Amino acid sequence: MSIARVKSEYSFSNRSPEADAQLGTLESFLDPITADRLAEPVLTPGARCWELGAGGGSVARLMARTVGPAGRVIATDIDPSHLAPAANLAVRRHDVRNDPPVGESFDLIHARLVLLHLPERQRVLRELTRALAPGGWLVVEEFDCTVPLRVLTAPTDAAAKLFQQVTETMLGILQERGADLGWAQNVHTEMAQAGLTDIDTITYSESWAGGESGVSLHEVNSRQLEPQLIAAGLSRGQLDDFRKLTRDPEFSCLSYQFVSTRGRRPFA
Ligand SMILES: C[S@@+](CC[C@H](N)C(=O)[O-])C[C@H]1O[C@@H](n2cnc3c(N)ncnc32)[C@H](O)[C@@H]1O
Repeated sequence: MSIARVKSEYSFSNRSPEADAQLGTLESFLDPITADRLAEPVLTPGARCWELGAGGGSVARLMARTVGPAGRVIATDIDPSHLAPAANLAVRRHDVRNDPPVGESFDLIHARLVLLHLPERQRVLRELTRALAPGGWLVVEEFDCTVPLRVLTAPTDAAAKLFQQVTETMLGILQERGADLGWAQNVHTEMAQAGLTDIDTITYSESWAGGESGVSLHEVNSRQLEPQLIAAGLSRGQLDDFRKLTRDPEFSCLSYQFVSTRGRRPFA
């Protein structure tokens, strides 16, 4: 199946009608894991934090609640339309590929599902490292999209095949736009090479049943990417069948592998 080559850019849009559902699904799946990874000593009262590519803003709000009135959080996004400021939470439009860092001496910088989309990810990670205070933490969390999305149960073999065809085509579209599907596996090494210490990585995956929130991510992604999926040779009928499948309780699959890596700038 051929995919038209397009210029490198983020594949989704926070302005699309599906953005609320997409960002909300990511938050409900990932926030509990992220909250564990940001627990003390990573996120502490009084800390200065940068939430990068903040999307729907749930992690920025978690940070703001934890740092309290003595701390500061800045939430940035290339499209901050889903973000709202609060007393200790500033919001700024910021393109991490081209704009200078929004400050320096951060105690915590967090980026979830952002760098994998950006061809400049390696340079950006180095810049984020330099924006940390001594002892400050960088937490980068990504999907490892090289692990095949295993179908666990399906009403028919044809349905399982269609699921794999559509999800693989979506990943191909992301890749054509500059995403690195295996970047999640590189982050630990990249942090070490950038001079960070105390680096640790965890990987998480769970089963998603048809009709549940998790698997609806595939449905909303297929709506956001519909023109590119059609251009890649899928028919509207196939997309309709795919979306029905994501709501079918007889269907279940494994989620993407979520890889969370933390590293710390040395004190001296
Ligand atoms: C998949 S969403 C993840 C949102 C949020 N981090 C989360 O995990 O819930 C990716 C986010 O990165 C933002 N983004 C994409 N390219 C960006 C860039 N060059 N600079 C800053 N943010 C960017 C998007 O607008 C979007 O909000």
